[in-house]
Amino acid sequence: MTTNTVLEVIKSRRSIRKYLPEQVKDAELKAILEAGAYAPSAHNDQSWHFTVVRNKDLLDQISARAKEIMAGQGTDWVRAMGTNKLFHVFYHAPAVIVVSMRSDALSPLVDCCAAIENMLLAAESMDIGTCWIGLARYYFALKDELAPLEIPPGYEPCYAVALGYKGQRPSRALPRKKGAVNYID
Ligand SMILES: Cc1cc2nc3c(=O)[nH]c(=O)nc-3n(C[C@H](O)[C@H](O)[C@H](O)COP(=O)(O)O)c2cc1C
Repeated sequence: MTTNTVLEVIKSRRSIRKYLPEQVKDAELKAILEAGAYAPSAHNDQSWHFTVVRNKDLLDQISARAKEIMAGQGTDWVRAMGTNKLFHVFYHAPAVIVVSMRSDALSPLVDCCAAIENMLLAAESMDIGTCWIGLARYYFALKDELAPLEIPPGYEPCYAVALGYKGQRPSRALPRKKGAVNYID
């Protein structure tokens, strides 16, 4: 098989947890968001909404509130991250995309996850770092505090994606688990 850029991008993407402070260029951000919007979706609902947050104070505030909730959780590793002064839920990324799902769509969470993966791969294709952030849900659960995100009515946030130029170069992904495929011919 000849070299295939898409496959190479898929295999080279890693979660980035250290970012340079420089903001991602608008044209690159736009291309990443467009890649998200080109994801497949059940019933072609396109049930996602993307909120780009570049306000550092707000990102710090969201991280702090999420950590307060995490600090009171029963799971040891979640509590440990919540109480770690150095931990930032978004790793100080200069931009974060909050992904919200339209609650009355057919498969909103799956649609949003497909969009997220498209965005991670599009970013990697431009050598821009990303990290899928599930821990943001500790803030998203605080329904009364979400107003600063200006999420449209009928949508609820599910995940976030931290985004920025890479401040680290992780090794290539570890070998994949064996036995995840079987063939019926
Ligand atoms: C649904 C989901 C939620 C995740 N949430 C977080 C998170 O909150 N913080 C984080 O640092 N990484 C998070 N990750 C990234 C995973 O830890 C990472 O993808 C995994 O360890 C494999 O590493 P890789 O992305 O470098 O291949 C999440 C990934 C997924 C798919």
